[in-house]
Amino acid sequence: MQSFSVRPATLDDAERLFAFIHLNRDQLVPRSLGNVVETIDRFFLAESEGEMVGCVAYQIHPELGDAKAASVEVQSLAVKSAFRRRGIGRLLVETVIGRVKAFCPKDVVALTFAPGFFGSLGFVEVPKTKVMHKLYTGCINCAKHTNPFTCPEIAMMRSI
Ligand SMILES: CC(C)(COP(=O)(O)OP(=O)(O)OC[C@H]1O[C@@H](n2cnc3c(N)ncnc32)[C@H](O)[C@@H]1OP(=O)(O)O)[C@@H](O)C(=O)NCCC(=O)NCCS
Repeated sequence: MQSFSVRPATLDDAERLFAFIHLNRDQLVPRSLGNVVETIDRFFLAESEGEMVGCVAYQIHPELGDAKAASVEVQSLAVKSAFRRRGIGRLLVETVIGRVKAFCPKDVVALTFAPGFFGSLGFVEVPKTKVMHKLYTGCINCAKHTNPFTCPEIAMMRSI
């Protein structure tokens, strides 16, 4: 079986990340190339033999906790279909959690269509009202559903 590794993204990866997110547009909130570039310091990517096989990003949300103990959202998580179920998604999420632990956040949240995956990583489902700010600022810009407030994504949270 091919091995893989996870590393922080660089600006040189931005176009590949943009294309990868676009490929997974059915599950991920769209991002422009400009947005990927300006948030590149919050991206990690998984590689196998030089090929990008997964990515993840994070965003700190002071509005979801409080200024001293904000919540962190896992964003733009995807693994290339042929490489799924090999632990890459887990390593990407645990890498983000390892990184953000340095900031002492309250918890990590995700809005997801893959609750089984996040459940296996210790996340539990929470009412969407817990992430209401995200719904107003992030989801309102998403064009995937006719109404972002009735989007079937599930809110999940893991305490830090
Ligand atoms: C969700 C996703 C990132 C998982 O990546 P992955 O590399 O296949 O996940 P892993 O192999 O690390 O799986 C970790 C655990 O989750 C479980 N799991 C993985 N995908 C699952 C799923 N769709 N449903 C239920 N459990 C799942 C695995 O069985 C594994 O558990 P185990 O270690 O106890 O066997 C991948 O399926 C994907 O890219 N999906 C499309 C994009 C998406 O939905 N992203 C999430 C948006 S927030």
